[in-house]
Amino acid sequence: MAYKLGVIGYGTMGSWHCKNVTERINGLEIGAVYDINEQRRELAKQDGFKVYETEEEFFNSEVDLILVATPNIFHKDHCITAMEKGKNVVCEKPACLNLEELEEVIAVSNRTGKLYTVHQNRRFDTDFAIMKNIVNQNLLGKNFYLNSRLYGNRGFSDASWKSLYETGGGLLYDWGIHMIDQVLCLFENDKPVSVYAELQKVRMLNVDDVCRVVIEFASGVRAQVIADLWCYVSEARWHLEGSDGSAIIYKWFGKEGKIIRAKNQKICWEEGCVYTPNGLSTTMWPRAEHDLEELPLPIPEELPRWEEYYENVIKVLDGKATQIVTHEQIRKDMQVLMAAFESAEKNTVVKL
Ligand SMILES: NC(=O)c1ccc[n+]([C@@H]2O[C@H](COP(=O)([O-])OP(=O)(O)OC[C@H]3O[C@@H](n4cnc5c(N)ncnc54)[C@H](O)[C@@H]3O)[C@@H](O)[C@H]2O)c1
Repeated sequence: MAYKLGVIGYGTMGSWHCKNVTERINGLEIGAVYDINEQRRELAKQDGFKVYETEEEFFNSEVDLILVATPNIFHKDHCITAMEKGKNVVCEKPACLNLEELEEVIAVSNRTGKLYTVHQNRRFDTDFAIMKNIVNQNLLGKNFYLNSRLYGNRGFSDASWKSLYETGGGLLYDWGIHMIDQVLCLFENDKPVSVYAELQKVRMLNVDDVCRVVIEFASGVRAQVIADLWCYVSEARWHLEGSDGSAIIYKWFGKEGKIIRAKNQKICWEEGCVYTPNGLSTTMWPRAEHDLEELPLPIPEELPRWEEYYENVIKVLDGKATQIVTHEQIRKDMQVLMAAFESAEKNTVVKL
Protein backbone atom coordinates (compact mmCIF):
# COMPACT_ATOMS: atom_id res chain seq x y z
CA MET A 1 0.00 0.00 0.00
CA ALA A 2 1.28 3.43 -0.91
CA TYR A 3 2.01 6.13 1.67
CA LYS A 4 0.04 9.34 1.23
CA LEU A 5 1.86 12.64 0.79
CA GLY A 6 0.21 15.97 1.56
CA VAL A 7 1.70 19.05 -0.06
CA ILE A 8 1.36 22.54 1.42
CA GLY A 9 2.27 25.27 -1.07
CA TYR A 10 1.24 24.41 -4.63
CA GLY A 11 3.65 26.86 -6.26
CA THR A 12 6.59 26.16 -8.55
CA MET A 13 8.17 23.53 -6.33
CA GLY A 14 5.08 22.09 -4.65
CA SER A 15 3.47 21.37 -8.03
CA TRP A 16 6.79 19.91 -9.26
CA HIS A 17 6.81 17.46 -6.33
CA CYS A 18 3.18 16.48 -6.98
CA LYS A 19 3.86 15.72 -10.66
CA ASN A 20 7.20 14.00 -10.11
CA VAL A 21 6.14 11.94 -7.10
CA THR A 22 3.10 10.77 -9.08
CA GLU A 23 5.12 9.87 -12.17
CA ARG A 24 8.38 8.65 -10.66
CA ILE A 25 7.96 7.34 -7.12
CA ASN A 26 6.52 3.92 -6.34
CA GLY A 27 4.96 3.58 -2.92
CA LEU A 28 3.95 7.22 -2.54
CA GLU A 29 0.89 9.04 -3.82
CA ILE A 30 -0.43 12.56 -3.42
CA GLY A 31 -3.22 12.47 -0.83
CA ALA A 32 -3.82 16.16 -0.14
CA VAL A 33 -2.86 19.60 -1.38
CA TYR A 34 -3.34 23.01 0.20
CA ASP A 35 -2.34 26.47 -0.94
CA ILE A 36 -3.39 29.77 0.60
CA ASN A 37 -4.00 31.13 -2.90
CA GLU A 38 -7.36 30.17 -4.42
CA GLN A 39 -6.01 30.15 -7.98
CA ARG A 40 -3.27 27.71 -7.00
CA ARG A 41 -5.86 25.49 -5.27
CA GLU A 42 -7.96 25.59 -8.44
CA LEU A 43 -4.94 24.60 -10.51
CA ALA A 44 -4.18 21.70 -8.17
CA LYS A 45 -7.78 20.50 -8.61
CA GLN A 46 -7.48 20.73 -12.39
CA ASP A 47 -4.25 18.73 -12.10
CA GLY A 48 -6.32 16.00 -10.47
CA PHE A 49 -5.31 16.29 -6.81
CA LYS A 50 -7.49 16.25 -3.70
CA VAL A 51 -7.46 19.86 -2.50
CA TYR A 52 -8.44 21.17 0.93
CA GLU A 53 -9.92 24.63 1.34
CA THR A 54 -8.40 25.44 4.73
CA GLU A 55 -5.04 24.85 6.36
CA GLU A 56 -6.76 23.16 9.30
CA GLU A 57 -8.56 20.62 7.12
CA PHE A 58 -5.32 19.95 5.28
CA PHE A 59 -3.31 19.26 8.44
CA ASN A 60 -6.11 16.99 9.71
CA SER A 61 -6.28 15.03 6.45
CA GLU A 62 -5.31 11.37 6.32
CA VAL A 63 -1.78 11.64 5.02
CA ASP A 64 1.37 9.98 6.36
CA LEU A 65 3.84 12.59 5.25
CA ILE A 66 3.68 16.32 4.54
CA LEU A 67 5.90 18.20 2.13
CA VAL A 68 6.34 21.84 3.14
CA ALA A 69 6.83 23.88 -0.04
CA THR A 70 5.70 27.28 1.17
CA PRO A 71 7.87 30.44 1.25
CA ASN A 72 10.78 30.05 3.67
CA ILE A 73 9.25 32.25 6.36
CA PHE A 74 6.52 29.63 6.94
CA HIS A 75 8.73 26.52 7.08
CA LYS A 76 9.13 26.44 10.86
CA ASP A 77 5.40 26.76 11.66
CA HIS A 78 4.27 24.38 8.93
CA CYS A 79 6.79 21.71 9.93
CA ILE A 80 5.88 21.98 13.60
CA THR A 81 2.11 21.92 12.95
CA ALA A 82 2.51 18.87 10.70
CA MET A 83 4.48 16.89 13.29
CA GLU A 84 2.14 17.94 16.13
CA LYS A 85 -0.68 16.53 13.99
CA GLY A 86 1.19 13.22 13.79
CA LYS A 87 2.57 13.58 10.27
CA ASN A 88 6.10 12.96 9.07
CA VAL A 89 7.74 15.90 7.33
CA VAL A 90 9.86 16.64 4.31
CA CYS A 91 10.65 20.35 4.19
CA GLU A 92 11.92 22.27 1.23
CA LYS A 93 15.26 23.98 1.63
CA PRO A 94 16.31 26.09 3.44
CA ALA A 95 15.11 24.21 6.54
CA CYS A 96 14.19 27.44 8.34
CA LEU A 97 15.28 31.05 8.56
CA ASN A 98 17.82 30.55 11.36
CA LEU A 99 19.28 28.10 13.89
CA GLU A 100 16.84 29.00 16.66
CA GLU A 101 13.90 28.09 14.43
CA LEU A 102 15.62 24.89 13.36
CA GLU A 103 16.28 23.78 16.94
CA GLU A 104 12.56 24.25 17.70
CA VAL A 105 11.63 22.05 14.73
CA ILE A 106 14.18 19.34 15.60
CA ALA A 107 12.96 19.33 19.23
CA VAL A 108 9.40 18.65 18.01
CA SER A 109 10.66 15.85 15.75
CA ASN A 110 12.54 14.30 18.68
CA ARG A 111 9.57 14.64 21.01
CA THR A 112 6.94 13.31 18.59
CA GLY A 113 9.20 10.69 16.97
CA LYS A 114 8.10 11.95 13.54
CA LEU A 115 10.48 12.05 10.63
CA TYR A 116 11.80 15.51 9.86
CA THR A 117 14.11 15.90 6.88
CA VAL A 118 14.95 18.45 4.20
CA HIS A 119 14.74 18.08 0.42
CA GLN A 120 18.41 18.51 -0.50
CA ASN A 121 17.85 17.35 -4.06
CA ARG A 122 21.12 18.79 -5.40
CA ARG A 123 22.97 15.92 -3.76
CA PHE A 124 21.76 13.87 -6.74
CA ASP A 125 23.18 16.12 -9.47
CA THR A 126 25.48 14.40 -11.97
CA ASP A 127 28.25 16.99 -11.72
CA PHE A 128 28.22 16.75 -7.93
CA ALA A 129 28.47 12.94 -8.05
CA ILE A 130 31.59 13.22 -10.21
CA MET A 131 33.14 15.73 -7.80
CA LYS A 132 32.37 13.35 -4.93
CA ASN A 133 34.28 10.59 -6.74
CA ILE A 134 37.26 12.90 -7.35
CA VAL A 135 37.43 13.73 -3.65
CA ASN A 136 36.74 10.20 -2.39
CA GLN A 137 39.33 8.66 -4.74
CA ASN A 138 41.85 11.31 -3.66
CA LEU A 139 42.89 11.95 -7.26
CA LEU A 140 44.56 15.34 -6.80
CA GLY A 141 46.87 14.92 -3.80
CA LYS A 142 46.12 17.34 -0.97
CA ASN A 143 43.06 19.33 -1.97
CA PHE A 144 43.43 23.00 -1.12
CA TYR A 145 40.83 25.06 -3.04
CA LEU A 146 37.41 24.29 -4.43
CA ASN A 147 35.25 26.60 -6.50
CA SER A 148 31.57 25.73 -6.83
CA ARG A 149 29.79 28.25 -9.03
CA LEU A 150 26.36 28.80 -10.51
CA TYR A 151 25.26 31.73 -12.58
CA GLY A 152 22.01 33.25 -13.72
CA ASN A 153 21.36 36.60 -15.32
CA ARG A 154 17.71 37.45 -14.65
CA GLY A 155 17.60 38.21 -10.90
CA PHE A 156 14.42 37.33 -8.99
CA SER A 157 10.96 38.35 -10.14
CA ASP A 158 9.80 41.47 -8.28
CA ALA A 159 6.49 39.70 -7.78
CA SER A 160 8.10 36.80 -5.89
CA TRP A 161 8.58 36.48 -2.14
CA LYS A 162 12.18 35.59 -3.08
CA SER A 163 12.85 39.27 -3.73
CA LEU A 164 11.93 40.19 -0.13
CA TYR A 165 14.25 39.47 2.78
CA GLU A 166 11.27 39.54 5.21
CA THR A 167 9.78 36.41 3.60
CA GLY A 168 13.08 34.52 3.55
CA GLY A 169 14.15 35.67 0.09
CA GLY A 170 17.60 36.30 -1.33
CA LEU A 171 20.13 34.15 -3.11
CA LEU A 172 21.97 32.84 -0.07
CA TYR A 173 18.76 31.25 1.24
CA ASP A 174 17.76 30.20 -2.27
CA TRP A 175 20.87 28.72 -3.90
CA GLY A 176 23.56 29.30 -1.26
CA ILE A 177 22.06 26.60 0.94
CA HIS A 178 22.09 23.99 -1.87
CA MET A 179 25.73 24.73 -2.60
CA ILE A 180 26.77 24.84 1.07
CA ASP A 181 25.08 21.47 1.60
CA GLN A 182 26.96 20.01 -1.39
CA VAL A 183 30.32 21.30 -0.14
CA LEU A 184 29.73 19.94 3.38
CA CYS A 185 28.82 16.56 1.84
CA LEU A 186 31.89 16.65 -0.39
CA PHE A 187 34.20 17.10 2.59
CA GLU A 188 32.00 15.16 5.01
CA ASN A 189 34.97 13.73 6.91
CA ASP A 190 36.44 17.19 7.45
CA LYS A 191 35.23 19.87 9.85
CA PRO A 192 34.22 23.38 8.76
CA VAL A 193 36.05 25.82 11.03
CA SER A 194 35.35 29.28 9.64
CA VAL A 195 33.27 31.17 7.11
CA TYR A 196 33.82 34.38 5.19
CA ALA A 197 31.06 35.72 2.97
CA GLU A 198 30.22 38.63 0.73
CA LEU A 199 26.62 39.39 -0.20
CA GLN A 200 25.78 41.99 -2.81
CA LYS A 201 22.56 43.63 -3.91
CA VAL A 202 23.40 44.38 -7.51
CA ARG A 203 19.96 45.01 -8.96
CA MET A 204 17.60 43.69 -6.30
CA LEU A 205 16.78 46.37 -3.73
CA ASN A 206 15.86 44.19 -0.80
CA VAL A 207 17.87 40.95 -1.02
CA ASP A 208 21.28 39.61 -1.97
CA ASP A 209 21.44 38.66 -5.65
CA VAL A 210 25.14 37.74 -5.62
CA CYS A 211 26.70 35.68 -2.85
CA ARG A 212 30.19 34.37 -2.28
CA VAL A 213 30.94 32.16 0.69
CA VAL A 214 34.34 30.72 1.59
CA ILE A 215 34.26 27.80 4.01
CA GLU A 216 37.56 26.82 5.60
CA PHE A 217 37.91 23.24 6.83
CA ALA A 218 40.15 21.87 9.60
CA SER A 219 42.37 20.11 7.02
CA GLY A 220 43.12 23.50 5.44
CA VAL A 221 41.02 23.02 2.31
CA ARG A 222 38.90 26.03 1.43
CA ALA A 223 35.72 25.86 -0.58
CA GLN A 224 34.26 28.88 -2.28
CA VAL A 225 30.61 28.90 -3.23
CA ILE A 226 29.53 31.54 -5.73
CA ALA A 227 25.93 32.10 -6.75
CA ASP A 228 25.47 35.10 -8.99
CA LEU A 229 22.27 36.31 -10.68
CA TRP A 230 23.93 38.88 -12.95
CA CYS A 231 26.58 37.01 -14.85
CA TYR A 232 26.43 36.95 -18.62
CA VAL A 233 29.56 34.84 -19.24
CA SER A 234 29.79 31.88 -16.87
CA GLU A 235 32.86 30.25 -15.40
CA ALA A 236 33.11 26.48 -14.93
CA ARG A 237 30.62 24.87 -12.53
CA TRP A 238 33.38 23.14 -10.50
CA HIS A 239 37.11 23.67 -10.18
CA LEU A 240 39.17 21.79 -7.59
CA GLU A 241 42.84 22.30 -6.96
CA GLY A 242 45.07 19.77 -5.21
CA SER A 243 48.82 19.71 -4.62
CA ASP A 244 49.30 17.18 -7.48
CA GLY A 245 46.54 18.11 -9.92
CA SER A 246 43.45 20.09 -10.82
CA ALA A 247 39.96 19.06 -11.89
CA ILE A 248 37.35 20.96 -13.81
CA ILE A 249 33.71 20.22 -14.68
CA TYR A 250 32.37 22.75 -17.11
CA LYS A 251 28.62 22.67 -16.81
CA TRP A 252 25.87 22.14 -14.29
CA PHE A 253 24.57 18.57 -14.86
CA GLY A 254 27.40 18.10 -17.34
CA LYS A 255 29.84 15.20 -17.53
CA GLU A 256 32.44 17.13 -19.54
CA GLY A 257 35.64 18.27 -17.92
CA LYS A 258 39.10 16.94 -17.16
CA ILE A 259 41.71 16.17 -14.60
CA ILE A 260 45.29 17.23 -15.21
CA ARG A 261 47.91 15.78 -12.91
CA ALA A 262 51.68 16.20 -12.50
CA LYS A 263 53.56 12.96 -13.22
CA ASN A 264 56.26 13.79 -10.70
CA GLN A 265 57.13 16.62 -8.37
CA LYS A 266 60.70 17.21 -9.58
CA ILE A 267 60.73 20.59 -11.26
CA CYS A 268 63.31 21.56 -13.85
CA TRP A 269 63.89 25.30 -13.44
CA GLU A 270 66.23 25.57 -16.44
CA GLU A 271 63.49 24.49 -18.83
CA GLY A 272 62.21 27.87 -19.82
CA CYS A 273 60.63 31.20 -19.38
CA VAL A 274 57.53 33.07 -20.57
CA TYR A 275 58.52 36.12 -22.56
CA THR A 276 55.90 38.81 -23.00
CA PRO A 277 56.28 42.24 -24.60
CA ASN A 278 56.21 43.66 -21.08
CA GLY A 279 58.71 41.40 -19.36
CA LEU A 280 59.44 37.75 -18.57
CA SER A 281 58.47 35.20 -15.96
CA THR A 282 60.03 31.92 -14.88
CA THR A 283 57.35 31.60 -12.15
CA MET A 284 54.55 31.28 -14.71
CA TRP A 285 56.45 29.00 -17.10
CA PRO A 286 54.15 25.96 -17.36
CA ARG A 287 55.28 22.40 -16.80
CA ALA A 288 56.36 20.51 -19.88
CA GLU A 289 53.61 18.43 -21.56
CA HIS A 290 55.53 15.19 -20.91
CA ASP A 291 55.45 15.96 -17.19
CA LEU A 292 51.63 16.07 -17.11
CA GLU A 293 48.91 13.50 -17.57
CA GLU A 294 45.24 13.94 -18.38
CA LEU A 295 42.76 11.63 -16.67
CA PRO A 296 39.11 11.19 -17.58
CA LEU A 297 36.59 12.33 -15.01
CA PRO A 298 35.56 9.46 -12.71
CA ILE A 299 31.92 9.35 -13.80
CA PRO A 300 30.02 6.90 -11.57
CA GLU A 301 28.81 3.78 -13.42
CA GLU A 302 25.39 4.40 -11.95
CA LEU A 303 24.51 8.05 -11.90
CA PRO A 304 22.55 9.23 -8.86
CA ARG A 305 18.79 9.52 -9.33
CA TRP A 306 16.52 12.08 -7.67
CA GLU A 307 14.10 9.18 -6.93
CA GLU A 308 16.59 7.91 -4.33
CA TYR A 309 15.55 10.79 -2.10
CA TYR A 310 11.91 9.69 -1.72
CA GLU A 311 12.85 5.99 -1.87
CA ASN A 312 14.90 6.65 1.26
CA VAL A 313 12.00 8.51 2.91
CA ILE A 314 9.74 5.50 2.21
CA LYS A 315 12.31 3.10 3.69
CA VAL A 316 12.58 5.32 6.78
CA LEU A 317 8.77 5.19 7.18
CA ASP A 318 8.99 1.38 6.78
CA GLY A 319 11.61 1.32 9.55
CA LYS A 320 14.18 -0.14 7.14
CA ALA A 321 16.64 2.75 6.79
CA THR A 322 17.83 5.93 8.42
CA GLN A 323 17.27 9.28 6.75
CA ILE A 324 19.96 10.38 4.29
CA VAL A 325 19.52 14.08 5.03
CA THR A 326 20.12 13.91 8.79
CA HIS A 327 19.35 16.38 11.56
CA GLU A 328 23.08 16.81 12.14
CA GLN A 329 23.65 17.71 8.48
CA ILE A 330 20.67 20.09 8.44
CA ARG A 331 22.07 21.74 11.57
CA LYS A 332 25.57 22.05 10.09
CA ASP A 333 24.17 23.55 6.86
CA MET A 334 22.27 26.10 8.92
CA GLN A 335 25.30 26.94 11.10
CA VAL A 336 27.33 27.72 7.99
CA LEU A 337 24.45 29.68 6.43
CA MET A 338 24.06 31.81 9.56
CA ALA A 339 27.83 32.33 9.79
CA ALA A 340 27.73 33.54 6.17
CA PHE A 341 25.04 36.13 6.96
CA GLU A 342 27.01 37.28 10.02
CA SER A 343 30.29 37.42 8.12
CA ALA A 344 28.78 39.50 5.32
CA GLU A 345 27.18 41.89 7.75
CA LYS A 346 30.32 42.42 9.87
CA ASN A 347 32.76 42.01 6.98
CA THR A 348 34.83 39.56 9.00
CA VAL A 349 35.74 35.88 9.20
CA VAL A 350 33.33 34.03 11.50
CA LYS A 351 34.70 31.06 13.46
CA LEU A 352 32.37 28.11 13.84
N1 LIG B 1 14.78 22.06 -3.81
C1 LIG B 1 14.63 22.80 -4.89
O1 LIG B 1 15.20 22.51 -5.94
C2 LIG B 1 13.77 24.00 -4.84
C3 LIG B 1 13.49 24.73 -6.01
C4 LIG B 1 12.63 25.83 -5.91
C5 LIG B 1 12.10 26.19 -4.68
N2 LIG B 1 12.42 25.45 -3.57
C6 LIG B 1 11.86 25.82 -2.26
O2 LIG B 1 10.46 25.54 -2.28
C7 LIG B 1 9.76 26.47 -1.47
C8 LIG B 1 8.71 27.15 -2.33
O3 LIG B 1 9.36 27.87 -3.38
P1 LIG B 1 8.64 28.11 -4.78
O4 LIG B 1 9.71 28.49 -5.72
O5 LIG B 1 7.75 26.97 -5.12
O6 LIG B 1 7.76 29.39 -4.43
P2 LIG B 1 6.38 29.80 -5.11
O7 LIG B 1 6.17 31.21 -4.74
O8 LIG B 1 6.37 29.41 -6.53
O9 LIG B 1 5.32 28.88 -4.36
C9 LIG B 1 4.95 29.07 -3.01
C10 LIG B 1 3.48 28.70 -2.88
O10 LIG B 1 3.13 28.75 -1.49
C11 LIG B 1 1.85 29.37 -1.39
N3 LIG B 1 1.76 29.93 -0.04
C12 LIG B 1 2.27 31.10 0.43
N4 LIG B 1 1.99 31.22 1.74
C13 LIG B 1 1.29 30.12 2.10
C14 LIG B 1 0.72 29.69 3.33
N5 LIG B 1 0.84 30.39 4.46
N6 LIG B 1 0.07 28.51 3.32
C15 LIG B 1 -0.07 27.79 2.19
N7 LIG B 1 0.45 28.15 1.00
C16 LIG B 1 1.13 29.31 0.96
C17 LIG B 1 1.83 30.42 -2.48
O11 LIG B 1 0.52 30.79 -2.83
C18 LIG B 1 2.56 29.69 -3.61
O12 LIG B 1 1.67 28.99 -4.45
C19 LIG B 1 10.82 27.42 -0.93
O13 LIG B 1 11.19 27.03 0.35
C20 LIG B 1 11.98 27.27 -1.89
O14 LIG B 1 13.22 27.55 -1.29
C21 LIG B 1 13.22 24.39 -3.66
